[in-house]
Amino acid sequence: MENLKKQIEDLVEKVNLYSYHYHVLDKPIVSDKDYDIAYYKLLELEKKTGYILPNSPTQRVGDMVSNKFQKHNHEVPLLSLDKAQSIPELKEWYEKIIDEYPNQTFTVEYKFDGLRLALIYENGLLVNASTRGNGYIGEDVTAQVKTIRTVPLSIPFKKRIIVEGEGIMLLSELNKFNEQSHDVLLKNARNAVAGSIRNLDPKITASRNLDFFAYGIPYIEDFNFKTQVELRQFLIDNKFLVSDFFVSTNNFNIISDTIKKVDNERENLDILIDGLVIKVNDINIRNQLGWTIRFPKWALAYKFEALEVTSVVKNVIWQVGRTGKLTPLAILEPVEIAGATVKRATLNNWDDIIRKQVKINSLVFLRRSNEVIPEILGLAQEFENSKEIIKPEYCPCCGTKLENRGVHLFCTNETGCAAQLKERIIHFCSRNAMNIEGIRDKTVDLFFDKLKLRTVDQLYNLTKEQLKELEKFKDKKSKNIINSIEKSKNIEFERFIYALGIGNVGIKTAKDLAKNFKNFENLKCATIEQLVIIEDIGEIVAQSIVDYFSNDYYKNIYNKLFEYGVNIIYKDKNKQDNGVFADKVFVLTGTLPTLSRNEATKIIEDNGGTVSSTVSKMTDFVLVGEEPGSKYQKALNLNIKILNEAEFLSMLND
Ligand code: IVH
Repeated sequence: MENLKKQIEDLVEKVNLYSYHYHVLDKPIVSDKDYDIAYYKLLELEKKTGYILPNSPTQRVGDMVSNKFQKHNHEVPLLSLDKAQSIPELKEWYEKIIDEYPNQTFTVEYKFDGLRLALIYENGLLVNASTRGNGYIGEDVTAQVKTIRTVPLSIPFKKRIIVEGEGIMLLSELNKFNEQSHDVLLKNARNAVAGSIRNLDPKITASRNLDFFAYGIPYIEDFNFKTQVELRQFLIDNKFLVSDFFVSTNNFNIISDTIKKVDNERENLDILIDGLVIKVNDINIRNQLGWTIRFPKWALAYKFEALEVTSVVKNVIWQVGRTGKLTPLAILEPVEIAGATVKRATLNNWDDIIRKQVKINSLVFLRRSNEVIPEILGLAQEFENSKEIIKPEYCPCCGTKLENRGVHLFCTNETGCAAQLKERIIHFCSRNAMNIEGIRDKTVDLFFDKLKLRTVDQLYNLTKEQLKELEKFKDKKSKNIINSIEKSKNIEFERFIYALGIGNVGIKTAKDLAKNFKNFENLKCATIEQLVIIEDIGEIVAQSIVDYFSNDYYKNIYNKLFEYGVNIIYKDKNKQDNGVFADKVFVLTGTLPTLSRNEATKIIEDNGGTVSSTVSKMTDFVLVGEEPGSKYQKALNLNIKILNEAEFLSMLND
């Protein structure tokens, strides 16, 4: 038995260490499989012997479902923070402190928008976890909090300590959950954490993959910190997860610059924050500054304008895209989201409406993101006059009976629906396609009505004289459009493929197709089998491509394009396929010390790589110069390899 106990103790230590490296440090030291082997071995020995250590990882999810939360009295009240909403307001607070205590250092941290928690450890073991509640009385959520992997069950510090921080749900976890779950929809990250922790069944909490970021120590036995910097290091040494974002400075300009920078970049963060917290670093000075009954005088929350707001859905209209797919668009009561007025929001498809329970005249949560049109996250409130959205049966543009394909509705009138015809022309002319300047939505409407333009090949038949007849088309404007159409005739292969507007073929797929099929003749005969062996092309995409090329209507259009002189340019790929950057996708951000953006792009392309404007999982490298933009933060979030100019140039010699 002693031998088994020792084995169990070793396994607990081992599994906790693996888990710490995986969840807190984000640097696993063993494979998932080895982790599982150790975990299940431990579980088996515990069952056999009944010897279960309180910090055993098997104790994270208990079986106890209680019917009510117990109250928890905070021995040290968890006060709130005073707020500033402008830089001058913050400066006033800063200067008041500096006047009395010159030369102070301040720290700047994220103000997490989650659920504030207090964790009590005794003899190095987590013994209690509670919500803030009203600051004096909270709820005991120990069983729930134990399921959070970034909450250590045991810590090296052995005396009594209270650690405070924020329970959060990463936005990527929230999206993952919502994509997988069809019963419960988590509307936004803050509600999601609160609902997941204040849930009587800890198994539910466990399934939500929450995290805990530690930021304070309201109480510690026989130990003193001099500064917030030291306190943070202590948290790290005791296995807590702290945010990498942490600035300490005695320069107010750095504080205000940091605020501006984070404000600009926060849309790309995986963590929901609603501001920054500025704290006096020196703990002695903090004690001298003291507290009011509601908040400390030594800290201030700088609040950003909310990225998530609510508004009323006034109507839902259905937009018909170039492939005939209908997308519901919500018309909203205009609302400000962080400086921009929002009047419309997307609801991806019919299923989305049902799942999000959105109704006309209902209040919904919205989040602004990098997308142009914000997304509806879910229903916030229904009213007496709320009414169901009606699923359309006929195309709102041409009246054709709609077809259900998976979660989407389609208008099948490919050759006659004005909305589809117009959208195909708009797409063909767009920047990443043929890049025909001056032909956007309104012009297409005009050309459609007045010049009877129906298909993209007809663009090449337009004359300056025809355009000049149109209202507001002066000589110069007409000339520019005709020139731009003429210029578009010489077109790179991948852009041409994209311009055709084949269903499910975006820029990335177009590039892959160009690379794999080398020329149009090959591409147009591609079979499903040839297509699906290309990475990232699945059966649905393959089928769309085959359907397109076997459709006589489209065949006629692209043959006419060639007749009118469209000429595909094939790049000399031979040289580049063997280049050091072959197949690599780069994103550039910031100012490089010696190379201009064009020079760097040329080097990348000459060596077989491509340059993209957005950071995504497809990006291989982000080349970073001075004052990088939000792409840099995004690259960090996605764990993408970051290069400076010197590292980049040295790769050329490898
Ligand atoms: S320090 C005595 N640091 O902000 C003050 N609070 O409006 C100790 N919060 O309910 C709090 N991030 O949930 C501190 N880095 C941070 C924080 C933070 C978020 C929250 C906390 C609190 C709210 C106050």
